[in-house]
Amino acid sequence: MGIRIYQLADELDLENKELIDILQELDIDINSHMSTIEEDTADIVRDMFEEEETEEESLENVIEVEDVLTVKELGEELDVKPNKLITELINMGTMATINQDLDMETMEELAAEYGYQIKEVEGEDEEEDIYGLVNDYEDKEEDLELRPPVVTVMGHVDHGKTTLLDAIRKTNVTEGEAGGITQHIGAYQVEVNDQKVTFLDTPGHEAFTSMRARGAQATDVAIIIVAADDGVMPQTVEAINHAQAAEVPIIVAVNKIDKPNAQPEKVKQELTEHGLVVEEWGGDTVTVPISALKQQNLDELLEMVLLTAEMEELKANPNRPANGVIVEAELDRGRGPVATALVKNGTLNIGDYIVAGSAHGRVRAMIDDHGQRVEKAGPATPVEVLGLSDVPSAGDILEVMPSGTNARDIAEEREEEKRARELVDHKTAVNLDDLFEQ
Ligand code: GTP
Ligand code: MG
Repeated sequence: MGIRIYQLADELDLENKELIDILQELDIDINSHMSTIEEDTADIVRDMFEEEETEEESLENVIEVEDVLTVKELGEELDVKPNKLITELINMGTMATINQDLDMETMEELAAEYGYQIKEVEGEDEEEDIYGLVNDYEDKEEDLELRPPVVTVMGHVDHGKTTLLDAIRKTNVTEGEAGGITQHIGAYQVEVNDQKVTFLDTPGHEAFTSMRARGAQATDVAIIIVAADDGVMPQTVEAINHAQAAEVPIIVAVNKIDKPNAQPEKVKQELTEHGLVVEEWGGDTVTVPISALKQQNLDELLEMVLLTAEMEELKANPNRPANGVIVEAELDRGRGPVATALVKNGTLNIGDYIVAGSAHGRVRAMIDDHGQRVEKAGPATPVEVLGLSDVPSAGDILEVMPSGTNARDIAEEREEEKRARELVDHKTAVNLDDLFEQ
Protein backbone atom coordinates (compact mmCIF):
# COMPACT_ATOMS: atom_id res chain seq x y z
CA MET A 1 0.00 0.00 0.00
CA GLY A 2 2.88 2.31 0.84
CA ILE A 3 3.05 5.66 2.52
CA ARG A 4 1.93 9.04 1.25
CA ILE A 5 4.66 11.51 0.35
CA TYR A 6 3.32 14.26 2.55
CA GLN A 7 3.20 11.91 5.52
CA LEU A 8 6.78 10.89 5.10
CA ALA A 9 7.81 14.50 4.51
CA ASP A 10 6.06 15.42 7.72
CA GLU A 11 7.75 12.63 9.60
CA LEU A 12 11.19 13.68 8.38
CA ASP A 13 10.46 17.35 8.90
CA LEU A 14 10.86 18.16 5.19
CA GLU A 15 8.84 20.09 2.65
CA ASN A 16 7.06 17.82 0.16
CA LYS A 17 9.13 19.34 -2.60
CA GLU A 18 12.40 18.58 -0.82
CA LEU A 19 11.42 14.98 -0.32
CA ILE A 20 10.38 14.59 -3.94
CA ASP A 21 13.75 16.01 -5.05
CA ILE A 22 15.54 13.48 -2.87
CA LEU A 23 13.44 10.64 -4.20
CA GLN A 24 14.15 11.68 -7.75
CA GLU A 25 17.85 11.83 -6.99
CA LEU A 26 17.61 8.29 -5.73
CA ASP A 27 15.71 7.24 -8.82
CA ILE A 28 12.82 6.08 -6.77
CA ASP A 29 9.52 5.53 -8.46
CA ILE A 30 6.74 7.62 -7.20
CA ASN A 31 3.24 6.49 -7.77
CA SER A 32 2.21 9.89 -8.95
CA HIS A 33 -1.41 9.03 -9.01
CA MET A 34 -1.54 8.09 -5.34
CA SER A 35 1.46 10.21 -4.31
CA THR A 36 2.72 7.23 -2.38
CA ILE A 37 5.93 5.24 -2.21
CA GLU A 38 6.56 1.69 -1.10
CA GLU A 39 7.10 1.16 2.63
CA ASP A 40 10.52 -0.46 1.93
CA THR A 41 11.59 2.56 -0.08
CA ALA A 42 10.40 4.85 2.67
CA ASP A 43 12.63 2.94 5.08
CA ILE A 44 15.64 3.59 2.89
CA VAL A 45 14.93 7.31 3.05
CA ARG A 46 14.31 7.10 6.78
CA ASP A 47 17.65 5.36 7.32
CA MET A 48 19.37 8.04 5.31
CA PHE A 49 18.04 10.74 7.57
CA GLU A 50 18.76 8.83 10.72
CA GLU A 51 22.38 8.37 9.73
CA GLU A 52 22.71 11.96 8.78
CA GLU A 53 21.42 12.99 12.16
CA THR A 54 23.79 10.80 14.13
CA GLU A 55 26.59 11.94 11.90
CA GLU A 56 25.78 15.48 12.80
CA GLU A 57 25.78 14.64 16.48
CA SER A 58 29.17 13.01 16.32
CA LEU A 59 30.70 15.72 14.21
CA GLU A 60 33.98 16.64 15.77
CA ASN A 61 34.15 19.85 13.85
CA VAL A 62 31.55 21.57 15.91
CA ILE A 63 32.49 24.67 17.82
CA GLU A 64 30.27 25.37 20.77
CA VAL A 65 29.94 29.05 21.48
CA GLU A 66 28.09 30.71 24.32
CA ASP A 67 28.48 34.21 23.10
CA VAL A 68 29.99 36.08 20.19
CA LEU A 69 33.67 35.49 19.56
CA THR A 70 36.27 37.94 18.33
CA VAL A 71 38.23 37.32 15.15
CA LYS A 72 41.17 36.25 17.27
CA GLU A 73 39.11 33.82 19.37
CA LEU A 74 37.46 32.26 16.36
CA GLY A 75 40.89 31.88 14.78
CA GLU A 76 42.03 29.95 17.86
CA GLU A 77 38.99 27.68 17.69
CA LEU A 78 39.50 27.00 13.99
CA ASP A 79 43.27 26.81 14.33
CA VAL A 80 43.60 29.47 11.63
CA LYS A 81 45.72 32.62 11.82
CA PRO A 82 43.53 35.68 12.50
CA ASN A 83 45.08 37.48 9.52
CA LYS A 84 43.71 34.79 7.26
CA LEU A 85 40.25 35.30 8.72
CA ILE A 86 40.54 39.06 8.23
CA THR A 87 41.36 38.44 4.56
CA GLU A 88 38.35 36.14 4.28
CA LEU A 89 36.22 38.85 5.83
CA ILE A 90 37.46 41.43 3.38
CA ASN A 91 36.55 39.04 0.58
CA MET A 92 33.12 38.80 2.11
CA GLY A 93 32.97 42.57 2.04
CA THR A 94 33.57 43.20 5.74
CA MET A 95 36.42 45.19 7.19
CA ALA A 96 37.36 43.74 10.57
CA THR A 97 40.07 44.10 13.17
CA ILE A 98 41.55 41.29 15.21
CA ASN A 99 39.59 42.11 18.37
CA GLN A 100 36.31 42.69 16.63
CA ASP A 101 33.24 40.75 17.72
CA LEU A 102 31.69 38.60 15.02
CA ASP A 103 27.99 37.94 14.76
CA MET A 104 26.61 34.42 14.56
CA GLU A 105 25.99 34.50 10.83
CA THR A 106 29.50 35.65 9.99
CA MET A 107 30.99 33.10 12.37
CA GLU A 108 29.00 30.34 10.70
CA GLU A 109 30.12 31.42 7.26
CA LEU A 110 33.76 31.59 8.24
CA ALA A 111 33.64 28.32 10.12
CA ALA A 112 32.03 26.57 7.16
CA GLU A 113 35.03 27.59 5.03
CA TYR A 114 37.16 25.43 7.27
CA GLY A 115 34.67 22.59 7.58
CA TYR A 116 33.43 23.62 11.01
CA GLN A 117 29.96 24.17 12.32
CA ILE A 118 29.00 26.65 14.98
CA LYS A 119 26.63 25.51 17.66
CA GLU A 120 25.12 28.04 19.97
CA VAL A 121 24.94 26.79 23.53
CA GLU A 122 23.42 28.33 26.60
CA GLY A 123 25.92 29.30 29.20
CA GLU A 124 25.51 27.82 32.63
CA ASP A 125 24.25 30.46 34.99
CA GLU A 126 26.56 30.45 37.90
CA GLU A 127 24.63 31.17 41.01
CA GLU A 128 26.00 34.43 42.21
CA ASP A 129 26.87 34.53 45.87
CA ILE A 130 25.06 37.62 46.98
CA TYR A 131 26.25 37.07 50.52
CA GLY A 132 29.79 38.13 49.73
CA LEU A 133 31.54 41.30 50.79
CA VAL A 134 29.78 44.45 49.63
CA ASN A 135 32.56 46.97 50.16
CA ASP A 136 35.69 46.01 48.37
CA TYR A 137 38.16 48.01 50.36
CA GLU A 138 41.83 47.81 49.43
CA ASP A 139 44.28 48.22 52.28
CA LYS A 140 47.55 50.01 51.73
CA GLU A 141 50.60 48.06 52.75
CA GLU A 142 51.65 50.77 55.24
CA ASP A 143 48.31 50.60 57.04
CA LEU A 144 48.70 46.92 57.86
CA GLU A 145 49.66 45.79 61.35
CA LEU A 146 50.43 42.35 62.75
CA ARG A 147 47.37 40.62 64.14
CA PRO A 148 46.83 37.49 66.26
CA PRO A 149 46.47 34.18 64.41
CA VAL A 150 43.08 32.50 64.29
CA VAL A 151 43.24 28.80 65.05
CA THR A 152 40.36 26.40 64.41
CA VAL A 153 40.13 23.02 66.08
CA MET A 154 38.51 20.36 63.92
CA GLY A 155 38.07 16.64 64.16
CA HIS A 156 35.75 13.69 64.48
CA VAL A 157 32.93 13.58 67.02
CA ASP A 158 34.14 12.96 70.58
CA HIS A 159 37.80 13.13 69.68
CA GLY A 160 38.21 15.94 72.21
CA LYS A 161 37.82 19.33 70.46
CA THR A 162 35.89 20.97 73.26
CA THR A 163 38.01 19.42 75.98
CA LEU A 164 41.14 20.73 74.28
CA LEU A 165 39.76 24.23 73.83
CA ASP A 166 38.58 24.38 77.41
CA ALA A 167 41.94 23.10 78.64
CA ILE A 168 43.87 25.69 76.64
CA ARG A 169 41.63 28.39 77.95
CA LYS A 170 41.87 27.29 81.57
CA THR A 171 45.62 26.93 81.52
CA ASN A 172 46.17 30.22 79.74
CA VAL A 173 44.11 32.76 81.58
CA THR A 174 45.35 34.57 84.66
CA GLU A 175 44.29 33.47 88.13
CA GLY A 176 41.81 36.25 88.62
CA GLU A 177 39.97 35.54 85.43
CA ALA A 178 39.89 31.79 85.79
CA GLY A 179 37.19 31.85 88.44
CA GLY A 180 34.85 33.72 86.16
CA ILE A 181 34.99 31.26 83.34
CA THR A 182 32.39 28.61 83.69
CA GLN A 183 30.78 27.97 80.39
CA HIS A 184 32.19 27.06 77.07
CA ILE A 185 32.03 29.57 74.26
CA GLY A 186 32.73 29.13 70.55
CA ALA A 187 35.55 31.61 70.22
CA TYR A 188 38.08 33.14 72.56
CA GLN A 189 41.50 34.70 72.76
CA VAL A 190 44.37 33.67 75.02
CA GLU A 191 47.90 34.83 75.53
CA VAL A 192 50.72 32.39 74.94
CA ASN A 193 54.27 33.69 75.58
CA ASP A 194 52.96 37.27 75.38
CA GLN A 195 51.38 36.54 72.03
CA LYS A 196 47.64 36.66 71.52
CA VAL A 197 46.04 33.68 69.81
CA THR A 198 42.38 33.40 68.84
CA PHE A 199 40.74 29.98 68.99
CA LEU A 200 37.56 28.86 67.29
CA ASP A 201 35.65 25.74 68.18
CA THR A 202 34.68 24.12 64.89
CA PRO A 203 31.98 26.33 63.47
CA GLY A 204 30.59 23.13 61.96
CA HIS A 205 31.83 21.77 58.67
CA GLU A 206 29.05 23.50 56.83
CA ALA A 207 29.98 26.91 58.12
CA PHE A 208 33.61 26.21 57.33
CA THR A 209 32.67 25.40 53.76
CA SER A 210 30.50 28.46 53.31
CA MET A 211 33.20 30.68 54.77
CA ARG A 212 35.60 29.26 52.24
CA ALA A 213 33.12 29.68 49.40
CA ARG A 214 32.71 33.31 50.33
CA GLY A 215 36.39 33.90 50.54
CA ALA A 216 35.89 34.67 54.18
CA GLN A 217 38.40 32.15 55.27
CA ALA A 218 38.68 32.93 58.93
CA THR A 219 41.24 30.32 59.88
CA ASP A 220 45.00 30.74 59.74
CA VAL A 221 45.98 27.43 61.31
CA ALA A 222 43.92 24.25 61.64
CA ILE A 223 44.45 21.87 64.54
CA ILE A 224 43.07 18.52 63.52
CA ILE A 225 42.48 16.43 66.57
CA VAL A 226 42.52 12.64 66.32
CA ALA A 227 41.77 10.38 69.28
CA ALA A 228 44.57 7.84 69.53
CA ASP A 229 42.18 5.12 70.67
CA ASP A 230 39.87 5.61 67.70
CA GLY A 231 42.10 6.71 64.82
CA VAL A 232 41.32 8.59 61.64
CA MET A 233 37.54 8.64 61.13
CA PRO A 234 35.23 10.04 58.40
CA GLN A 235 35.00 13.51 59.90
CA THR A 236 38.77 13.56 60.38
CA VAL A 237 39.13 13.00 56.65
CA GLU A 238 36.55 15.71 55.95
CA ALA A 239 38.44 18.12 58.18
CA ILE A 240 41.70 17.30 56.39
CA ASN A 241 40.02 17.93 53.04
CA HIS A 242 38.55 21.23 54.15
CA ALA A 243 41.82 22.51 55.54
CA GLN A 244 43.73 21.41 52.46
CA ALA A 245 41.21 22.97 50.09
CA ALA A 246 41.46 26.22 52.03
CA GLU A 247 45.26 25.92 51.97
CA VAL A 248 45.42 26.33 55.71
CA PRO A 249 48.46 24.80 57.46
CA ILE A 250 47.56 21.74 59.52
CA ILE A 251 48.86 20.63 62.89
CA VAL A 252 47.68 17.22 64.04
CA ALA A 253 47.01 16.77 67.75
CA VAL A 254 47.00 13.08 68.56
CA ASN A 255 44.75 13.12 71.60
CA LYS A 256 43.86 10.77 74.48
CA ILE A 257 47.39 9.37 74.75
CA ASP A 258 46.64 8.80 78.44
CA LYS A 259 44.33 5.95 77.50
CA PRO A 260 45.75 2.43 77.80
CA ASN A 261 44.44 1.48 74.35
CA ALA A 262 45.94 4.55 72.64
CA GLN A 263 47.79 3.75 69.41
CA PRO A 264 49.48 6.96 68.25
CA GLU A 265 51.68 5.14 65.72
CA LYS A 266 48.63 3.70 64.05
CA VAL A 267 47.17 7.21 63.74
CA LYS A 268 50.31 8.36 61.94
CA GLN A 269 50.02 5.44 59.56
CA GLU A 270 46.41 6.32 58.81
CA LEU A 271 47.28 9.98 58.25
CA THR A 272 49.77 8.93 55.59
CA GLU A 273 46.95 7.22 53.75
CA HIS A 274 45.26 10.61 53.52
CA GLY A 275 48.24 12.53 52.25
CA LEU A 276 49.59 13.80 55.58
CA VAL A 277 53.08 12.38 56.08
CA VAL A 278 54.43 13.08 59.54
CA GLU A 279 57.80 14.74 60.05
CA GLU A 280 59.49 11.66 61.56
CA TRP A 281 58.73 9.83 58.34
CA GLY A 282 60.14 12.51 56.09
CA GLY A 283 56.93 14.47 55.52
CA ASP A 284 56.03 17.95 56.67
CA THR A 285 53.01 17.29 58.86
CA VAL A 286 53.57 18.34 62.44
CA THR A 287 51.98 15.99 64.98
CA VAL A 288 51.88 16.53 68.71
CA PRO A 289 50.78 13.75 71.08
CA ILE A 290 48.56 15.21 73.80
CA SER A 291 46.03 14.47 76.46
CA ALA A 292 43.44 17.22 76.53
CA LEU A 293 41.83 15.69 79.59
CA LYS A 294 45.05 15.38 81.61
CA GLN A 295 46.42 18.58 80.09
CA GLN A 296 49.56 16.87 78.88
CA ASN A 297 51.84 18.40 76.26
CA LEU A 298 49.53 21.33 75.55
CA ASP A 299 52.46 23.78 75.77
CA GLU A 300 54.21 21.96 72.97
CA LEU A 301 51.08 22.04 70.85
CA LEU A 302 50.71 25.79 71.39
CA GLU A 303 54.34 26.36 70.57
CA MET A 304 53.90 24.58 67.26
CA VAL A 305 50.82 26.71 66.59
CA LEU A 306 52.76 29.92 67.22
CA LEU A 307 55.68 28.78 65.08
CA THR A 308 53.35 27.97 62.20
CA ALA A 309 51.47 31.25 62.55
CA GLU A 310 54.68 33.30 62.66
CA MET A 311 55.63 32.03 59.25
CA GLU A 312 52.38 33.39 57.86
CA GLU A 313 53.03 37.05 58.77
CA LEU A 314 49.39 37.76 59.50
CA LYS A 315 48.38 41.38 59.11
CA ALA A 316 45.28 43.55 59.07
CA ASN A 317 44.33 47.21 59.05
CA PRO A 318 42.71 48.18 62.37
CA ASN A 319 41.84 51.68 61.13
CA ARG A 320 38.99 51.00 58.74
CA PRO A 321 35.37 49.86 58.91
CA ALA A 322 35.21 46.27 60.10
CA ASN A 323 34.32 43.07 58.37
CA GLY A 324 34.26 39.63 59.87
CA VAL A 325 32.44 36.37 60.03
CA ILE A 326 29.65 34.99 62.19
CA VAL A 327 30.88 32.04 64.24
CA GLU A 328 27.60 31.26 65.99
CA ALA A 329 24.33 33.03 66.62
CA GLU A 330 21.15 32.48 68.62
CA LEU A 331 17.99 34.17 69.73
CA ASP A 332 18.33 35.11 73.38
CA ARG A 333 15.05 35.61 75.15
CA GLY A 334 16.12 38.72 76.97
CA ARG A 335 18.67 40.21 74.59
CA GLY A 336 17.25 39.33 71.17
CA PRO A 337 19.52 38.05 68.40
CA VAL A 338 23.05 37.50 69.71
CA ALA A 339 25.82 36.76 67.26
CA THR A 340 29.37 35.73 68.06
CA ALA A 341 31.46 37.37 65.39
CA LEU A 342 35.12 37.19 64.63
CA VAL A 343 36.41 40.50 63.34
CA LYS A 344 38.74 39.79 60.45
CA ASN A 345 39.78 43.24 59.38
CA GLY A 346 39.14 46.75 60.61
CA THR A 347 37.63 47.69 63.96
CA LEU A 348 34.01 47.18 64.97
CA ASN A 349 32.58 49.96 67.13
CA ILE A 350 29.46 50.48 69.18
CA GLY A 351 26.95 52.34 67.00
CA ASP A 352 28.25 50.90 63.68
CA TYR A 353 25.60 50.02 61.09
CA ILE A 354 26.06 46.40 60.15
CA VAL A 355 24.77 43.72 57.85
CA ALA A 356 25.32 39.99 58.50
CA GLY A 357 23.80 37.65 55.95
CA SER A 358 20.20 38.75 55.73
CA ALA A 359 20.22 40.38 59.16
CA HIS A 360 21.01 44.03 59.70
CA GLY A 361 21.11 46.53 62.53
CA ARG A 362 23.27 48.78 64.62
CA VAL A 363 25.79 47.53 67.17
CA ARG A 364 24.08 48.18 70.49
CA ALA A 365 26.55 46.38 72.72
CA MET A 366 29.57 44.13 72.46
CA ILE A 367 30.74 41.55 74.96
CA ASP A 368 34.18 39.99 74.86
CA ASP A 369 35.15 36.40 75.66
CA HIS A 370 35.51 37.25 79.34
CA GLY A 371 31.96 38.51 79.58
CA GLN A 372 33.10 42.13 79.69
CA ARG A 373 31.37 44.89 77.76
CA VAL A 374 33.69 46.48 75.22
CA GLU A 375 33.47 49.57 73.02
CA LYS A 376 35.49 48.23 70.10
CA ALA A 377 36.84 45.02 68.65
CA GLY A 378 39.89 44.93 66.36
CA PRO A 379 41.27 42.32 63.94
CA ALA A 380 41.11 38.66 65.05
CA THR A 381 38.95 39.53 68.06
CA PRO A 382 35.93 37.38 68.84
CA VAL A 383 33.03 39.33 70.25
CA GLU A 384 29.34 38.93 70.97
CA VAL A 385 27.32 41.46 69.02
CA LEU A 386 23.89 42.74 70.08
CA GLY A 387 21.58 44.83 67.96
CA LEU A 388 20.84 42.70 64.90
CA SER A 389 17.32 42.49 63.48
CA ASP A 390 17.50 38.76 63.02
CA VAL A 391 19.64 35.70 63.77
CA PRO A 392 22.32 35.29 61.08
CA SER A 393 23.82 31.91 60.15
CA ALA A 394 27.25 30.67 61.12
CA GLY A 395 29.55 31.46 58.23
CA ASP A 396 27.73 34.64 57.23
CA ILE A 397 29.88 37.67 56.58
CA LEU A 398 29.47 40.63 58.90
CA GLU A 399 30.18 44.01 57.43
CA VAL A 400 29.98 47.62 58.51
CA MET A 401 27.85 49.82 56.24
CA PRO A 402 27.90 53.58 55.76
CA SER A 403 24.28 53.99 56.84
CA GLY A 404 21.34 52.20 58.38
CA THR A 405 19.30 52.38 55.19
CA ASN A 406 22.18 50.92 53.29
CA ALA A 407 22.48 47.98 55.67
CA ARG A 408 18.74 47.35 55.61
CA ASP A 409 18.51 47.46 51.81
CA ILE A 410 21.24 44.88 51.41
CA ALA A 411 19.74 42.62 54.06
CA GLU A 412 16.33 42.83 52.40
CA GLU A 413 17.76 42.10 48.98
CA ARG A 414 19.43 39.00 50.36
CA GLU A 415 16.27 37.91 52.13
CA GLU A 416 14.31 38.19 48.90
CA GLU A 417 16.92 36.30 46.94
CA LYS A 418 16.98 33.60 49.61
CA ARG A 419 13.19 33.22 49.38
CA ALA A 420 13.29 33.06 45.59
CA ARG A 421 15.90 30.33 45.74
CA GLU A 422 13.98 28.36 48.33
CA LEU A 423 10.93 28.57 46.10
CA VAL A 424 12.87 27.14 43.18
CA ASP A 425 14.28 24.37 45.37
CA HIS A 426 10.81 23.62 46.63
CA LYS A 427 9.41 23.42 43.13
CA THR A 428 12.10 21.00 42.07
CA ALA A 429 11.35 18.84 45.08
CA VAL A 430 7.66 18.73 44.23
CA ASN A 431 8.40 17.70 40.68
CA LEU A 432 10.59 14.86 41.84
CA ASP A 433 7.89 13.69 44.21
CA ASP A 434 5.44 13.71 41.33
CA LEU A 435 7.74 11.48 39.36
CA PHE A 436 8.07 8.98 42.14
CA GLU A 437 4.35 8.80 42.61
CA GLN A 438 3.81 7.40 39.13
P1 GTP B 1 31.85 16.86 69.76
O1 GTP B 1 31.80 18.31 70.07
O2 GTP B 1 30.63 16.10 70.21
O3 GTP B 1 32.20 16.53 68.35
O4 GTP B 1 33.01 16.19 70.63
P2 GTP B 1 34.41 16.82 70.97
O5 GTP B 1 35.38 16.49 69.91
O6 GTP B 1 34.29 18.22 71.39
O7 GTP B 1 34.87 15.91 72.20
P3 GTP B 1 34.80 16.29 73.72
O8 GTP B 1 35.83 17.29 74.05
O9 GTP B 1 33.41 16.56 74.11
O10 GTP B 1 35.30 14.90 74.34
C1 GTP B 1 34.60 13.68 74.18
C2 GTP B 1 34.92 12.75 75.32
O11 GTP B 1 36.29 12.38 75.29
C3 GTP B 1 34.67 13.37 76.69
O12 GTP B 1 34.12 12.41 77.53
C4 GTP B 1 36.06 13.76 77.14
O13 GTP B 1 36.17 13.76 78.54
C5 GTP B 1 36.91 12.67 76.54
N1 GTP B 1 38.27 13.11 76.31
C6 GTP B 1 38.66 14.22 75.64
N2 GTP B 1 40.00 14.32 75.65
C7 GTP B 1 40.48 13.25 76.33
C8 GTP B 1 41.79 12.79 76.68
O14 GTP B 1 42.81 13.37 76.35
N3 GTP B 1 41.86 11.62 77.37
C9 GTP B 1 40.76 10.93 77.74
N4 GTP B 1 40.95 9.82 78.42
N5 GTP B 1 39.53 11.34 77.44
C10 GTP B 1 39.38 12.49 76.74
MG1 MG C 1 32.58 19.62 71.21
